[in-house]
Amino acid sequence: MTERDLESLQAATFVRTIRHRPESVSTNTDALDWSRELGRRDLPALLLADRQTGGRGRGANRWWSAEGALTFSLLIEPLEHGVPMPQWPALSLTVGAAIAEALSGFAPGADVRLKWPNDVYIGGRKASGVLIESPPDASQRLVIGIGINVNNSPEHAPPEVRARAVSLAEVLGGPQPKLPVLQAVLQQLEVDLAALATKHPSLLGRWRRLCLLTGRSVLITDSGRATAGTCLGLDDDGALRVQTGHTIERLFSGVVTEFE
Ligand code: BTN
Repeated sequence: MTERDLESLQAATFVRTIRHRPESVSTNTDALDWSRELGRRDLPALLLADRQTGGRGRGANRWWSAEGALTFSLLIEPLEHGVPMPQWPALSLTVGAAIAEALSGFAPGADVRLKWPNDVYIGGRKASGVLIESPPDASQRLVIGIGINVNNSPEHAPPEVRARAVSLAEVLGGPQPKLPVLQAVLQQLEVDLAALATKHPSLLGRWRRLCLLTGRSVLITDSGRATAGTCLGLDDDGALRVQTGHTIERLFSGVVTEFE
C-alpha cells in the first residue's frame, strides 16, 4: 500500500495513527509492543503488514498468511467508544459480524456467515479470522488482529487449510484491491461499535441472521473445557446457547473444534 493509500484510509475512517510494514512476524505482536508508545489520543491505531510470516490464531491455531492476504491489527480503548468492560464479551462477535457485513458488500450473492465467535465463512469455507488480545500493561486497551483472505489463493496453502479456506478473489473470480476491503471493514467496525455502545437491537438481529452454527451439532473448547451439543443460536447479550442433554449452556468464548 502506498503513502497516499494510507492517507486516504486515515481520512475515511476513525483510525488516527497508522504504521505500515512490508513484513511482520505477527501484526498483533507488533501492536502489543507499539501500544507502549501510544497515548489515548493516538487511538484507534492501525498496524498493517503486506506480509506476515508467523501469524498467530486463536487457541492452538496458527494463521496461514500468504502473499495477498490482508493482515492488520487495530489498537483501541473500547471505553472511548462507549463500550464498558461488562460489554467486552460481545466485542468478539461485534468484530466478526462487522467483517462479515463488510465482505457481503463485495460479494452480494455469496453466502457470507459468521461462525461464532468471530470467524467469517463464505460458501462454507473460512475467509477471515480474528484474534483479540490485551496488552499486559494496559488492560483498558485491546489489540484486534484481523486476517482476511483477499488475494491469497488457498491452492498454495498447506493441505489442512486448503479444504476449508477461501479467498475473496476466488469468490469473485479475480484479484481485488486490498484498500477498499480494509476501509469497508474499519468503517463498519466504527458503526457497529457505536451500535454496541447503545445496545442497538439491529445488531443482535444481524448477528442472529449471520450465525452459521444455529441448529448444528457443535463441539466447543474453552481453556480445556469441552462443550458438546446442539447450538440453539445467540442470546440477547451475544452468548452462544448450546443444548447439552437437559441443560442449556451459555458460552461467551471458546474455539469451535467441530460442527456439522
Ligand atoms: C483464527 O482464526 O484463529 C484467528 C486468526 C487471526 C489472524 C490475524 S492476522 C493479523 C493478526 N496478527 C496475528 O498474528 N494474528 C491476527
